[in-house]
Amino acid sequence: MKHAAISFSIVFLLTVTLPARSEEPEVSPQKGKAIYKAHCVRCHGSQGRGDGPDAANLIVPPTNFHRPESQTKSDMDLRGAIIWGLAFSPMHGWWGKLSGSEMRSVTAYIRQLAPYQPSTP
Ligand code: HEC
Repeated sequence: MKHAAISFSIVFLLTVTLPARSEEPEVSPQKGKAIYKAHCVRCHGSQGRGDGPDAANLIVPPTNFHRPESQTKSDMDLRGAIIWGLAFSPMHGWWGKLSGSEMRSVTAYIRQLAPYQPSTP
């Protein structure tokens, strides 16, 4: 009896959780735009130029994503800063606050505002 109950629960859990897991949340700049407007625009500004309404009060200025130093960074570099934050700066990490796909989406949106430009050696 006990075994039957356990195997029933396992089968039940698999049917309930597996279909949900097989759907990866969609990553898109459109989704990223909404996240950016909700969480990032106050510092980084509507066009990503580091001139949001809160920027003036910060000692470390928010990154202008159109600077060559930023545009030559890889998506991974930007995403790393978003996930972990930057030391000694108001840019805190978003790990645990945004999901992985949300962080990818917001990175995609930043790249739409200021496209990646590989540096020339
Ligand atoms: C409280 C203000 C503030 C908020 C809100 C904020 N940032 Fe930042 N961000 C900063 C500052 C300041 C820096 C630059 C830190 C430095 O130069 O040390 C920065 C740097 C970054 C960088 C690194 C850029 C580079 O070229 O290395 C990325 C990427 C970034 N922010 C993305 C985001 C995203 C995405 C959000 C929203 C989810 C966000 N930030 C919200 C202040 C903020």
